Amino acid sequence: MSQHYQHDVLVIGSGAAGLTLALTLPEHLRIAVLSKGNLANGSTYWAQGGVAAVLDDMDTVESHVDDTLNAGAGLCREEAVRFTVEHSREAIQWLIDQGVPFTRDDQTAREDGGFEFHLTREGGHSHRRIIHAADATGAAIFKTLLEQARQRTNIELLEQRVAVDLITERKLGLTGQRCLGAYVLNRASGEVDTYGARFVILATGGAAKVYLYTSNPDGACGDGIAMAWRAGCRVGNLEFNQFHPTCLYHPQAKSFLITEALRGEGALLKLPSGERFMQRFDPRAELAPRDIVARAIDHEMKRLGIDCVYLDISHKPAAFVRAHFPTVYERCLDFGIDITRQPIPVVPAAHYTCGGVVVEQTGATDVPGLYAIGETSFTGLHGANRMASNSLLECFVYARSAAADILQQLDRVAMPSRLPTWDASQVTDSDEDVIIAHNWDELRRFMWDYVGIVRTNKRLQRAEHRVRLLLDEIDEFYSNYKVSRDLIELRNLAQVAELMIHSAMQRHESRGLHYTLDYPQQLPEAKDTILAPPTYGD
Ligand code: FAD
Ligand code: SIN
Repeated sequence: MSQHYQHDVLVIGSGAAGLTLALTLPEHLRIAVLSKGNLANGSTYWAQGGVAAVLDDMDTVESHVDDTLNAGAGLCREEAVRFTVEHSREAIQWLIDQGVPFTRDDQTAREDGGFEFHLTREGGHSHRRIIHAADATGAAIFKTLLEQARQRTNIELLEQRVAVDLITERKLGLTGQRCLGAYVLNRASGEVDTYGARFVILATGGAAKVYLYTSNPDGACGDGIAMAWRAGCRVGNLEFNQFHPTCLYHPQAKSFLITEALRGEGALLKLPSGERFMQRFDPRAELAPRDIVARAIDHEMKRLGIDCVYLDISHKPAAFVRAHFPTVYERCLDFGIDITRQPIPVVPAAHYTCGGVVVEQTGATDVPGLYAIGETSFTGLHGANRMASNSLLECFVYARSAAADILQQLDRVAMPSRLPTWDASQVTDSDEDVIIAHNWDELRRFMWDYVGIVRTNKRLQRAEHRVRLLLDEIDEFYSNYKVSRDLIELRNLAQVAELMIHSAMQRHESRGLHYTLDYPQQLPEAKDTILAPPTYGD
């Protein structure tokens, strides 16, 4: 039988954004944190390089702001960039206070006898400003925050709970637009439960799984973006999908990233002949922003008809490489590649969703009571191309800002009264799961081919036509069969794919990550692509 629950705050997502928000709220609030798989299911756990922040005395807020604006190709919202960067130091201090074991720099002993943290460098940054835990920063942050959350009696951590849709006053036919909770599939019982809450937070991560090749874990399906859209929220800049230049190219290596910090520490990109090529594309060579490096690799692979290029750090001392990149070293060794002696075969893969649910500086969306934080949101920080390691920073800064906003509103918002139960009376068990698997595959393949690193009008039109057919099929399936995690994700992926295609079709220029052969120039004026659902403002 399906269950009803009530919480002050319902956080959908247990990554950097969701856990930070839950830990920042006061202990008298009852908070539920949901994950659709196990708690480590999101991208956070896999983050390698680190978190960008102004920490070195020689670095400045101005410099971090300028680098971010440059990488964003004129499309960042400067107030969002400034807000994020200005709050970077306190966000890192909060993480240190939680106990995150960032790597210390044994070169620079401080006068008080302690040690400074080691700061590395990544593409687009003109300064060393990436604080990290070797090359497994995400795992270190996630484990620390999870341990803290487990000690808090007011936080319930719930695994294998898949949010299906948001419950709003509008959907229930009530006056008002407030978000009142969510319907959530409990994968253990198979039932869809009802969660009522005073505040609902989407911290569901990105949508890179829309592409065939991605660095992201399996759950990155844009669920939060699709749910927010259906609830009446606008979405922004969804045409900007970031492709990470260097994912391991090996038949058995599913989505393994080779951190940009390797290039920060001197690794070189090479063709199979051993020749370097990045200096032909940008004076910053290997340390140019990601859109430029990924496009250059794509160009060379197509020009030469090769399957991959190579990333070479073998000229650095072996002990240095093993100490700084233990995870990459071990993982490559599993595939017979000794990175201290050999170059690493690499290809670009979908990595980060720069656009998302339109939010204010507080993380508030267009629907009262609903917030979006982390990769699922569109704050304006990343513009047309996210700079490396600004993403985790955004998770912490905006999660803390959302928590402060919720606190201010607490006294004015009551618990919603009992909400209607999910209606499963008209659906049966599916006997055609093969259709779901086939549609997943088809969607990800045509998105890769037609909405990838290089686009054209014709490719986008083809993708639009195919996604429409898929959406119709999925709608029919959804109306007739019981929901499963696969079906929920497919429905959301197809919805987000359509929004990405429409956003790309609206941009008649090439800028940052959106590159089209039909409009190769950048327009003089930079404009966001904001899409509003039919129900927006009802
Ligand atoms: P996530 O960490 O992705 O968490 C999403 C959560 O939402 C999960 O718990 C998931 O189960 C849950 N969820 C999703 N949908 C539902 C649903 N329907 N119902 C219930 N729960 C749901 N960024 C950096 O700044 N620095 C880096 O070094 C870096 N390295 C990276 C390396 C890799 C391999 C990858 C993939 C990304 C990297 N990034 C990095 C990007 C960064 O890790 C992510 O943008 C960030 O972790 C996103 O955090 P999040 O909290 O928004 O979402
Ligand atoms: C990396 O370590 O290369 C990923 C950094 C990021 O995505 O910000």
